[in-house]
Amino acid sequence: MNVSKLSRSPRAYTPVTALDAHAEQLQAQPLSDLLGGDTLSAQQRASDLAFTFGSLHVDFSKQRITPHTLKLLSDWARSCGVETKRTALFAGKNVNTSERRAALHMAARWPSTKKPPSGMESAATFCQQQQARLAEMVARVHEGQWFGATGQTITDVVHIGVGGSDLGPKLISEALADRPSHEKASVHYVSTMDGAQLLPLMERLNPATTLLVLASKSFTTADTQFNVRTALAWLSEALEIDVPTVCRYQLVGVSSKPEKMTDFGIPEAHQLVFKDWIGGRFSLWSPIGVSVAMQLGMEAFNALLAGAHAMDQHFLDAPLEENLPALMALVGAWNCQFLNIPTHAVLPYDGRLKSFSAYLQQLEMESNGKSVGLDGRSVNHATCPIIWGDVGPNAQHAFYQLLHQGGHTVSADFVAVAKRDVTATDDVSSSLCAQEQLTLANCLAQSQLFALGDDAIPATLRGHMAQGYRGNHPNSLLLLKELNAWGIGALLALYEHKVFVQSVLWNLNPFDQPGVELGKQLATSLYEMLAGETLAHNNVKDPSTEQLLCKINEWRQ
Ligand code: F6P
Repeated sequence: MNVSKLSRSPRAYTPVTALDAHAEQLQAQPLSDLLGGDTLSAQQRASDLAFTFGSLHVDFSKQRITPHTLKLLSDWARSCGVETKRTALFAGKNVNTSERRAALHMAARWPSTKKPPSGMESAATFCQQQQARLAEMVARVHEGQWFGATGQTITDVVHIGVGGSDLGPKLISEALADRPSHEKASVHYVSTMDGAQLLPLMERLNPATTLLVLASKSFTTADTQFNVRTALAWLSEALEIDVPTVCRYQLVGVSSKPEKMTDFGIPEAHQLVFKDWIGGRFSLWSPIGVSVAMQLGMEAFNALLAGAHAMDQHFLDAPLEENLPALMALVGAWNCQFLNIPTHAVLPYDGRLKSFSAYLQQLEMESNGKSVGLDGRSVNHATCPIIWGDVGPNAQHAFYQLLHQGGHTVSADFVAVAKRDVTATDDVSSSLCAQEQLTLANCLAQSQLFALGDDAIPATLRGHMAQGYRGNHPNSLLLLKELNAWGIGALLALYEHKVFVQSVLWNLNPFDQPGVELGKQLATSLYEMLAGETLAHNNVKDPSTEQLLCKINEWRQ
């Protein structure tokens, strides 16, 4: 056999090799060439790469792609079985293989008026029953009929949770804070394990009229357990009532572990339950969202679920070539796996979305921040990029300089809101209107500059400005018509399904988080050492940590 001939034979044609070759070709071209100025074909390309779903418009035309790239990417998705796995997801199959569970967060937003897909029926019924209980609790607070341990009406809700039990509800509460809120309930969020967010609330709120919501899927997360204990101690001391009585009147539990809630002293009537087939970072739609409903009312909460459900239905029905979550996933995978861009910035041009990048960090990185495949083998390509970001206009005055002239290439999602309902006097409202337009103009300008670099400089300014704007940062622009409950529900479900599709492309389980769990175990044993103020030397694995433990103990004496 002629070995040298064999080794020279071309690699077998697969969707991945086709994409590798295509990436090599496109990499050689500046993005400005692809965008191509004002020619007819450039206009056609821009329109082929933009998609509208309801009040959400996604423009991929500043990505390093052509319609042919999308065709190759869709072929790849098909070859990975995205369509079959999508059906399995909605049918409640055990897609979370390591924990042998389904992932049925879509059941929590499935409307009672519509038949669920086969396999989701009992899950949807369970979620709808819990939603009815949630609505009753919300009504009791809103009607002034929830009384604390001393008989006073509840006015404030402190939502205590962390990770998925905090980020989603907090994001929605902030995003829709300018919508009419229910005057009976002010909602506050506490997540940090050091008590730093709780302390000012304990100084400010009236203990007699404060309701605690303990949100924890596992009911074991230390951050949440410790915050709740401190909050209960505060209520008990301030009201001069024992903790078990405070628990009976002023504590709502939301968890997948009803028996643990009962042991903790939360009456069954104040428990909201969701099942373990809803992952923590996908749980906003479950009773974990109770505080959002307390703040905004059931109408808004239901609109949030309806927006997410509309995206579920689109994800289920649309062919991959027009399927927004699939396209987002494919463009994202193209950037990190084929164009080797390791980080992805999330840049909302709306202060109400200040927690959006934190929310996506958990959703994407906790899900697909893995490099061991479903088959137990190491994957040999890039997976989830590092997600980071901040409110765009503020970030322009912070890290954008590096993006414009530094040495790194990033990809980015710009998020903008086209219009805002403002109720203000004429003068204030026209001034705010100008601020909105200014913000939108900045968003467009930065997205353009990210892509085009020097080529974005108008000819009239060229001679006067130093060149060296690197450009070539591929980016998408997600435009919401307005920031309402339906729109943000659809937006978040879009990213959820993006994550699922990418997990299929990369052969990962997006629904577990073994790395995080290990961190929790290590912290528990170190906590015991700190709390006991003794060092169990055998348990400390390195001299650096041991030295730091000693220093902390010395300084805490
Ligand atoms: O951060 C790890 C994690 O397990 C997340 O997946 C989860 O959202 C968070 O902790 C909080 O967990 P729990 O809701 O069980 O308190």
